Amino acid sequence: MLVSGVPHRTIWLHEEAVRIIDQRRLPWTFELLDLRTVAEVAEAIRDMAVRGAGLIGATAGYGMWLAAREAQTQEELQSFAELLVATRPTAVNLSWAVKRQRAAIAKVGFEQRVETARQEAEAIADEDAAACAAIGRHGLKIIEEIAARKPGQVINILTHCNAGWLAFVDHGSATAPIYAAHAAGIPMHVWVDETRPRNQGARLTAWELAQQGVPHTVIADNTGGHLMQHGLVDLVLTGADRVTRSGDVANKIGTYLKALAAWDNGVPFYVALPSSTFDWTLRDGVSGIPIEQRGGEEVTEMEGMTTEGRVENLRIVAPGSEAANYAFDVTPARLITGLVTEQGTCAAEESAICQLHGQALSL
Ligand code: MRU
Repeated sequence: MLVSGVPHRTIWLHEEAVRIIDQRRLPWTFELLDLRTVAEVAEAIRDMAVRGAGLIGATAGYGMWLAAREAQTQEELQSFAELLVATRPTAVNLSWAVKRQRAAIAKVGFEQRVETARQEAEAIADEDAAACAAIGRHGLKIIEEIAARKPGQVINILTHCNAGWLAFVDHGSATAPIYAAHAAGIPMHVWVDETRPRNQGARLTAWELAQQGVPHTVIADNTGGHLMQHGLVDLVLTGADRVTRSGDVANKIGTYLKALAAWDNGVPFYVALPSSTFDWTLRDGVSGIPIEQRGGEEVTEMEGMTTEGRVENLRIVAPGSEAANYAFDVTPARLITGLVTEQGTCAAEESAICQLHGQALSL
């Protein structure tokens, strides 16, 4: 997608390093960061220099290329894989990419491991971008149907967190249909949930929509229900970090409340994801999906830019109060209108999901 009019991906190989956009610096500055060791990759994922399920998976794929370069023995390779998988627990794309790399490396001799892992990392990244582009084409049909019922009027879409191109290698999941509809000339407006505590909506989604020229408005997290009650939302479109085979969706904390409000107001609620985000081993998301808990300081402090242009971290809670920081929640399938993947659109229901994705119905 475009940054100051120039096409970019979020991750690529540069000389002998893995180059990323350091998302901790956005929207204040656009900075690239070169990762040269597995430890640097693990830290970039843990500290959210890269984040979003698809990009975490792609970064772990490249991390395994560095692991293959650094490891002198199979045991060392195994412990690098475990280090990467342990960085963040909820997005399944991370363990999916590491598992895929281990299978690819296991098929070749130890001498060919580095080249094999490099090719596999590139394939994971390319497939992620292609899947998101396909999600854009399938999701466009949903927006076109809404537009056909409101000829000439602006379509209002509400999104939560950042499921944009910054959360993937390119295009995004929830944003891909929005970009496709915008390119097709459908008048669009996006309500962007700020997404406390890390503010991925305010900081990242708003920035990337502005870069692509899509009209949008940032709202406080608790605004969605009010907008839906007043007919100001035509569609809620979010991404996902892990989706069970029965269609329960783990996504950024607060997604569940948006789904409840959408249900109560008859607003369609769609989730967009590449099929690498399915966890085929799980049926019940509420009991089965591990929910990351992060440091309380992400709740008690907030980073912003002063009017003089200094980036500062401010405390917003008086000392002495405890803070809890659950990073994700689970939206039950019954609240979801449909899932959009690179294979098409289906109901959030086990037989429909398995049929569309070529999975056996039994666990
Ligand atoms: O904590 P983050 O920023 O990695 O969480 C990202 C989200 O929750 C996104 O909505 C999700 O990954 C879906 S898009 C890949």
